[in-house]
Parts: sequence; structure tokens; C-alpha cells
Amino acid sequence: MFESFYGFSRTPFSRDIPTDCLYDSLLMQEVVGRLEYVAQRQLFMVITGASGIGKTTVIRKFSDQLDSSAYKLLYLADSKLTPRHFYKGLLEQLGCESRFYRGDAKRQLHHQVELMRGLHHQRPIVVIDEAHLLDREMLEEVRFLLNFRMDAMSPMALILTGQTELWDRLQLQTYAAIRQRVDLQYRLAHFDQSQVTEYIQAHLTYAGTDHAVFTDAAIAEIHLFSSGAARLINKLCTICLMHGAQHGRRVIDDHMVKLVIQAELS
Ligand SMILES: Nc1ncnc2c1ncn2[C@@H]1O[C@H](COP(=O)(O)OP(=O)(O)O)[C@@H](O)[C@H]1O
Ligand SMILES: [Mg+2]
Repeated sequence: MFESFYGFSRTPFSRDIPTDCLYDSLLMQEVVGRLEYVAQRQLFMVITGASGIGKTTVIRKFSDQLDSSAYKLLYLADSKLTPRHFYKGLLEQLGCESRFYRGDAKRQLHHQVELMRGLHHQRPIVVIDEAHLLDREMLEEVRFLLNFRMDAMSPMALILTGQTELWDRLQLQTYAAIRQRVDLQYRLAHFDQSQVTEYIQAHLTYAGTDHAVFTDAAIAEIHLFSSGAARLINKLCTICLMHGAQHGRRVIDDHMVKLVIQAELS
């Protein structure tokens, strides 16, 4: 394996990198800061960005540093989410078995939320990931969720994350009622070249090396190929490392990156 060849103690560019070892970019800090604000005030936020850009990772980071005595994060990422599964999923995470009918399950959820707030002084945060896949009926249900108010304050923070088309869809007239309720919208951008450099560095640091494995020119190629999207950077770097280890190259240059793209990724 390439890990021993490069003297890594952990595997870089992997999905399960702990949140305290992530590339902590200014953007990441900014969006986590907004999420904290949304949680405190129980607002509605929509986060969009291209596939593999780090949306779920941002939620993971936010979730890990959340004060669990004050907040309860309920997370759903199900492409086939129906209103019934939505309530069932949320109730399950609250340790309740949901009633069969949607109306009953909805009342049950409201009751649980009241208990959570009143009894446990915990504020719920509902995150729906991959929300660009939600159908019309589900988006309408989200609107109902926002309509439910116990007092002047919204009962929960609601965060939708999804690919860019989610925001495009919310622009349609049919979704005006939802769009108008969005308090904050954040669009995650692609990394530029210096951020790609820092990103790769963060993964190599996590792997336990201070050796600069990729040359500057190699990083420029990686940036070009990935357009600065984390998942593609991970994929390309991993194949480069496998290739590099096979061919005994301690340093990966732009020629090797081009070769790998041509041979395995184009
Ligand atoms: N800031 C970061 N530091 C380290 N790895 C990251 C970072 N952001 C994203 N990644 C990695 O990139 C990959 C894609 O990120 P992900 O959050 O799943 O993208 P999305 O949800 O936008 O499709 C994951 O393997 C993740 O671990
Ligand atoms: Mg995701």
C-alpha cells in the first residue's frame, strides 16, 4: 500500500477524516459560524454547492462542535424522502416510534419538540441533506414545518443542504412561500489554487508527514482537473499516490498527475 511507501501513519484523502483534522478554511469557519447563528436563533438556512464540494462535511463539522446539552441535531439524507418517512426519521432520532398517519406523526413531532424545549431546554436543529432531491410534496411539507410556531419564536432551526439546483428550484414561483422564509442562504464555492494547496497539505498533515509529496505544478494540474472540488481532489490524489508508490516516486509531479488523469480518469 502507498501508506508505508510514503511513511504515512494514516490514510490521507479518505472520507472518514476526523473533523478536527479537516482543512479548516476561512470559508469553513464562516459557514460554521453562520450555522451557529442559525441554531441560536432557530432560523431557516439553505446551503448549496456543487457535488463533492464539502456540504456534508460542513454539517459534520458543525455537528461535532455543537453543545449537545443545548442543542439536538436531527439529520436526514434520504433521496426518496416522503413526508411520512420524514416524520418517522425525525421521531426515530428522538427515540420515538412514529404513528402511522402523517397528521398523527406530525402532531407527535410537535409534541416532542415542545418537550425537548420545555423540559430539557434543548433546541432542535433539523438538517435535510441532499435536499435538491426532494420532490414537490416534501418541499411543501418543509413549509408546514416552518409554519408551526409555539410562540413568537420558531420551534426549530431548519437547514437544507443540496446541490446548486436546489436554489434554482426555490426561485420558481411555486416555491415562493418557502423561499421567502429562508433567513440565510450560503453558496459553497470551489477552492482556488492556493486553497487546493492548503487542502492537500491538511490531508498530508493528517496522514502524519511533513514531506511535500506533490510539487506546485502537480497541484496546479490537480486544481485544473478537479475545479477545486474536494471529492475529485481526493480521488485524483489517491490514484496518484498509488501510482507513485508503484513506480517508486517519492515526489509526484505534474507529468504523473497528467498521466494518471489520462490513464484512469478521462
Ligand atoms: N474541509 C475539508 N477538509 C478535508 N476534507 C474535506 C473537506 N471538505 C470536504 N472534504 C472531503 O471531500 C469529500 C467530499 O465532501 P462532501 O462533504 O461529502 O461533499 P458534498 O456533500 O458537497 O457532496 C469527503 O470525502 C470529505 O471528507
Ligand atoms: Mg453530501
